[in-house]
Amino acid sequence: MERTFIMIKPDGIQRGIMGEIISKIEKKGFKIIQAKLFEPSRALVEEHYEEHKGKTFFNELINYILSGPVMAMEVKGEFAVEVMRNMIGDKDPKLAASGTIRGEFANSMNTNVIHGSDSIESAHLELDLWFK
Ligand code: PPS
Repeated sequence: MERTFIMIKPDGIQRGIMGEIISKIEKKGFKIIQAKLFEPSRALVEEHYEEHKGKTFFNELINYILSGPVMAMEVKGEFAVEVMRNMIGDKDPKLAASGTIRGEFANSMNTNVIHGSDSIESAHLELDLWFK
């Protein structure tokens, strides 16, 4: 069984679609084994997105994630990393397939509702960071 890190971003919480997203994850057969709804610190968010430091969108991305509470979750299940990435869909709303979470709910590259780890290695690092 794999574990992955999933975060419902501030727009997902503010728009009241958290329950719907969690329901999709559970209906897929995954278990949410840890979860916390909170406002992360700047240091935590900057460390999470460290690989993007210096990119044009970095500051806007960090400020957006700091704009309200997020729901951080540890999700467990078979091939959880890849299956969750497929369920989440592309970060670009023009490319996010209908039927994916972003395809259904996201309308910008920044406010795109949800994050999921992109590899088993990132999942370990992100779970350690958010649930240490
Ligand atoms: S990259 O650099 O595009 O290859 O990065 P990627 O690993 O796909 O993830 C980038 C994360 O930053 C968010 N974001 C943006 N990406 C690209 N361009 C713009 N303008 C942008 N704004 C925000 C994007 O949603 C990814 O967030 P996460 O939470 O990791 O999905």
